[in-house]
Amino acid sequence: MAFKRSSMLIRMLGFCLLILIVHSANGDVSYSFPEEMKRGSVIGNIAKDLGLDVNRLAARKARIDTEGNRKRYCDINPNTGELTIAERIDREEICGDELSCVLKCDLMLEQPLELHRVSLQIEDINDNAPVFSKDLITFEIGESAVRGARYRVNEAHDADIAHNTVHGYVLEKNEHFSLAVSSNVYGRKYVELVLDKELDREQKKEVNLILTAVDGGTPPRSGTVAIHVTVLDANDNAPVFSQSVYKVNLPENSSLGTVVLTVSATDADEGQNGKVTYEFGRISAKARKLFTLNLHNGQISVTGHIDFEDASVYEMTVEGKDEFGLSSEANVVIQIVDVNDNAPEIFLKSLHTPVPENLAPGTEVGIINVQDIDTENNGRVKCSLQQNVPFKLIPSLKSYYSLVTTGELDRELVSDYNITITATDEGSPPLSSSKTVHLSVADVNDNPPVFEEQVYSAHVKENNKPGSSVCYVAATDPDWRQNGTVVYSLLPSDVSGAPVSSFVSINGDTGVIHAVRSFDYEQFKSFKVLVLARDNGSPPLSSNVTVSIFISDENDNSPQILYPSPEGNSFMTEMVPKAAQSGSLVSKVIAVDSDSGQNAWLSYHIVKATDPGLFTIGEHSGEIRTQRDISESDSTKQNLIVSVKDNGQSSLSATCAVYLLISDNLAEVPELKDMSYDESSSKLTFYLIIALVSVSTFFLTFIIIILAVRFCHRRKPRLLFDGAVAIPSAYLPPNYAEVEGAGTLCSTYNYDAYLTTGSRTSDFKFITSYNEGTLPADLTLKNVQSSFNDLEGLDVQLEDSSEQKPPNTDWRFTQNQRPGPSGHYTFQSNHLRWTSPRRLRAAATPEVAVGTGPWPNPPTEAEQLQALMAAANEVSEATNTLGPGTMGLSTRYSPQFTLQHVPDYRQNVYIPGSTATLTANPQQPQQALPPPQASGAQPEPPKAAQTPASKKKSTKKEKK
Ligand SMILES: *[C@@H]1O[C@H](CO)[C@@H](O)[C@H](O)[C@H]1NC(C)=O
Ligand SMILES: *[C@@H]1O[C@H](CO)[C@@H](O)[C@H](O)[C@H]1NC(C)=O
Ligand SMILES: *[C@@H]1O[C@H](CO)[C@@H](O)[C@H](O)[C@H]1NC(C)=O
Ligand SMILES: *[C@@H]1O[C@H](CO)[C@@H](O)[C@H](O)[C@H]1NC(C)=O
Repeated sequence: MAFKRSSMLIRMLGFCLLILIVHSANGDVSYSFPEEMKRGSVIGNIAKDLGLDVNRLAARKARIDTEGNRKRYCDINPNTGELTIAERIDREEICGDELSCVLKCDLMLEQPLELHRVSLQIEDINDNAPVFSKDLITFEIGESAVRGARYRVNEAHDADIAHNTVHGYVLEKNEHFSLAVSSNVYGRKYVELVLDKELDREQKKEVNLILTAVDGGTPPRSGTVAIHVTVLDANDNAPVFSQSVYKVNLPENSSLGTVVLTVSATDADEGQNGKVTYEFGRISAKARKLFTLNLHNGQISVTGHIDFEDASVYEMTVEGKDEFGLSSEANVVIQIVDVNDNAPEIFLKSLHTPVPENLAPGTEVGIINVQDIDTENNGRVKCSLQQNVPFKLIPSLKSYYSLVTTGELDRELVSDYNITITATDEGSPPLSSSKTVHLSVADVNDNPPVFEEQVYSAHVKENNKPGSSVCYVAATDPDWRQNGTVVYSLLPSDVSGAPVSSFVSINGDTGVIHAVRSFDYEQFKSFKVLVLARDNGSPPLSSNVTVSIFISDENDNSPQILYPSPEGNSFMTEMVPKAAQSGSLVSKVIAVDSDSGQNAWLSYHIVKATDPGLFTIGEHSGEIRTQRDISESDSTKQNLIVSVKDNGQSSLSATCAVYLLISDNLAEVPELKDMSYDESSSKLTFYLIIALVSVSTFFLTFIIIILAVRFCHRRKPRLLFDGAVAIPSAYLPPNYAEVEGAGTLCSTYNYDAYLTTGSRTSDFKFITSYNEGTLPADLTLKNVQSSFNDLEGLDVQLEDSSEQKPPNTDWRFTQNQRPGPSGHYTFQSNHLRWTSPRRLRAAATPEVAVGTGPWPNPPTEAEQLQALMAAANEVSEATNTLGPGTMGLSTRYSPQFTLQHVPDYRQNVYIPGSTATLTANPQQPQQALPPPQASGAQPEPPKAAQTPASKKKSTKKEKK
């Protein structure tokens, strides 16, 4: 409505203007009016203007003509003479951009023909709005465009002219662009968008704007266009990591391929600009070997063996990059977590080896260091030792331990130790390791040699070869080398007054004891040696042991016949009463053997007899008895040859002859010479005669000497032996020197008789060898055996046995059961008592007193005493009473010996040749007749004292 009103206003104005123009035209009329007037609108009254008569117009056929065929825009109203709009007049159509737009037409009148030019000036009105050529203008602007950048926009077009054309532009308000309008040289305006603020694709991908063009008309008109700006991406963003520091813990035993962590970075750019790849930035060469980084997904994984003990933390940077090289970094810290993968290690820092065995307990012998490179509990270590060793560990500084002894060491028990040290850490599971330390113990000489036996004894046969080995001793010393090397030696001592080294020697290395000389059982039966075993240590240790050496008997002595004298030298004749009945005791052969044991068991045999059936001899007793009653037809002279054998392995024997005279009267005795043994040689007879003569010659001398000796003996019995008797020295055992040529032996071999004051016991001690005549058994005169020498032999045994332990049971047995005089003798008189204590003890035991063997029982002491007393009486009686007519038999009686020295030959009480005793006591034969055992038990001392007559011959005296 407003628009209409204003258009009315414009018409009225145009009308006034038109009038003005018409008046100014010269002959011609011109009108000016705006375009776009309505048809019929009056432009002006042309009649008037031209002065024409309006009434006549019609008549005159007034009309408007146009040149050519041009469109007729106006018409004349013939009634009013007004000029009106016939057609729509659009100036823009008719004139376009021309600034003046004039339409020309003619007014024609007829009657008169008249022609008038009419100019129609068409004025512009703002009837067109500005118009843009496009509805939408698009731009693509990179986000990297800088401020001030201009982007031209096509201008808007307005068909109107002058003021009514485009006058200005308005841009929608926005933050990025402004508008710049300028005109070119032709005055044409153009529009540019100016970038006021950079674009950021990442913020705003596009910008939409409205541009409005406004014309200058009144009212103005406008036209708009949309501008679409697309923001193009530029690689303006670097990748960004999700964390600036990545921290992760990784167990050190992680296996290969374990993913440690994944880093990730993002890039705000799009497309290639936003594609991120990863790689290590700063990284140590060591870490590079252990870890890899996946280029595309950022995974860090393990590619090597990770060892906490090598490095506990790895630091590196990771770079994220986009396609065009923008990058950023992040730090990665990989902390390795310790796993108990290292066993403790044991180091031996010092060790004293070998250690002496006398080390005090608690002494340090070594230092040990233990290390575990793991951390915390995994590296905390405990040390221990195996059991059963005398050592312990004492912790000292930090990881150091002292190895000390806890007890005494003894090399002889344990000479070296393998000490196993075990170290265990406290990880879970715990790891442990062990080390063995070898410690040896050095020797100290702390053990003396020890003999294997406490006492040694050796038995050696007599007559051994000098140098032969006797026995050996052995001592052991557990110490080491020279501390345990045993050397043997003999401790100096005396054996029977001679140094022991003259008897035995010892091998220092082997301990074998050798005899230095040949031993003689009859000389001594045993001795003791002290052997010292010493080691070679310094100082040396030693011990000693006693070695008892027993010498055992060999059958090296043949029996010696005491009565009668051995064969060929006997002048003794036994008288046998004619009335003797069967079994009567006629005589007795007495023999001794200086050997001992079996070697001294004697047996008697008749080897030859005048009448073999008449006499028998007791095998063990030596008693000669009649086998049958004597008859008148028997020869008065009866000779027997008796052999005495010992019981040694190879037995030795001796023989003697017994002459028997069957007669009741000495007067009947035939010539002595005739009585000599049939087989005796003339030489023997000759010696016998000499002997008889000598005996007779010295008879009186003997009496005197005996009396003198007896006298002395009463006061001082010792005189009887001391130096008084010279012993033949023809035979001497080896190693014994004879003293001078005087025929006396050095004192060692002489008699020693002691009287002990405390008792009436005198030990008769005699050491000697035998007379030359005692050993051989041939039948020559030089073999004549003196009873004195026999006694000497007996005495040797007597003395020795008191000192010697019996070497075997055999010995003991024979002592008690032996027959005859070859054993020990207990002899007691008013003055002297010869005793063997051992014998006394042995006799007292029932076991030994019972004689089960073939040998007769030994006499009791009482019997012996009785027998000896009787013998003594008998002898003294005989000495006083016997006259020369007694065939010289009495010359053989030696009161000296019968009194004091005749040993107790139990059977000797029946002294042969004493017919007086046999006849004077008729009961006596009956007593003698029972077997030897019975007679041995004869209990009647008075009778026994009367019957026996002890007769002894002493060739010693003859030699004197
Ligand atoms: C690493 O050690 C731990 C503890 O000692 C154990 O539990 C785990 O199984 C081990 N891992 C590997 C891969 O050996
Ligand atoms: C100690 O070990 C050594 C060598 O292994 C061995 O010869 C020796 O017999 C061992 N000693 C002991 C007492 O076990
Ligand atoms: C023997 O013992 C001594 C200490 O008594 C010692 O010094 C020496 O080394 C030992 N000898 C040997 C070979 O062991
Ligand atoms: C023999 O050993 C004993 C101890 O067994 C000792 O008393 C004695 O002195 C030693 N004799 C010698 C001569 O060494």
